[in-house]
Amino acid sequence: MATTQLEAAKNVQPTKRSGRSYPVIEGIRRGETPAPVIHETVVSGDPVLSIENFCLYYSAAKALYDVTTQVPRGKVTAIIGPSGCGKSTLLRSVNRLNDLVEGVRITGDMRLNGTSVYGRDVDVIDLRKRLGMVFQKPNPFPMSIFENVVYALRIDGERRRKVLEEACERSLKGAALWDEVKDRLSQSALGLSGGQQQRLCIARAIAAEPEVLLLDEPCSALDPIATLRIEELIHEISDRYTVLIVTHNMQQATRVSDYTMFMYLGRLVEHGTTEDIFQNPRLSETEDYVTGRFG
Ligand SMILES: Nc1ncnc2c1ncn2[C@@H]1O[C@H](COP(=O)(O)OP(=O)(O)O)[C@@H](O)[C@H]1O
Ligand SMILES: [Mg+2]
Repeated sequence: MATTQLEAAKNVQPTKRSGRSYPVIEGIRRGETPAPVIHETVVSGDPVLSIENFCLYYSAAKALYDVTTQVPRGKVTAIIGPSGCGKSTLLRSVNRLNDLVEGVRITGDMRLNGTSVYGRDVDVIDLRKRLGMVFQKPNPFPMSIFENVVYALRIDGERRRKVLEEACERSLKGAALWDEVKDRLSQSALGLSGGQQQRLCIARAIAAEPEVLLLDEPCSALDPIATLRIEELIHEISDRYTVLIVTHNMQQATRVSDYTMFMYLGRLVEHGTTEDIFQNPRLSETEDYVTGRFG
């Protein structure tokens, strides 16, 4: 996208432009749930994940309202929106991490490669194996670099040294970390820098060959250089994996993603290609949010 627009996104203060009306956002603030604006480009392809009338409540508090859309296969999709709008909740719903929170109730469903995520006979452990998750703060296990990467294979009972070594090398190369750690695979992962630890967490996630990689603000605890490396990495792995990434950083969304979902107060507002969402959005709300005029 044009530098000028990026600069605008950085510099404009989030004040409401006079005379501009926000019918969709105002409706949402009154408690309505308008149908999301889903661009044809989102639904024309083959979805890896479809989200169907999905609602989530934390006890009495509703956090997601009737979210319906599709996540295109083999692409990077960014979820953007103001803090507290439900980005992490939506991401964690894909691998049912919210099941662990007391009082959570959902309605609707999601389908991962056609199979229900919330169906009655779903084995949640098996489901989670099909998804890789990386959190805001790197969370390497207190064990060697090698054992971190092959963790999922070990859990599955893999004991053949050669298989483990190949998976380790392939995943570390995939996470652009191999050259930095190949001579110290037996050392503790806790000795790595923050950026290296986060790439290790990505290596650990991709070692299990997930159907979708879920990233929740993976750069928010990193310095700008480590952030750039992770962004490059997301770009590199995007030809092999589907990535769903939450980010509050709009420049990051434009740098790494093919598609963008804009959320507000638990509603999906607009979903299109990142280029369209940032340069040619259908709603004035989306335009003003991505250029920093409100939010
Ligand atoms: N574990 C939880 N228990 C209760 N409420 C929660 C929990 N996690 C998030 N929420 C609430 O759900 C809403 C959405 O939060 P979240 O998904 O974390 O938003 P975001 O990631 O966009 O900042 C917020 O109002 C938040 O306070
Ligand atoms: Mg969040």
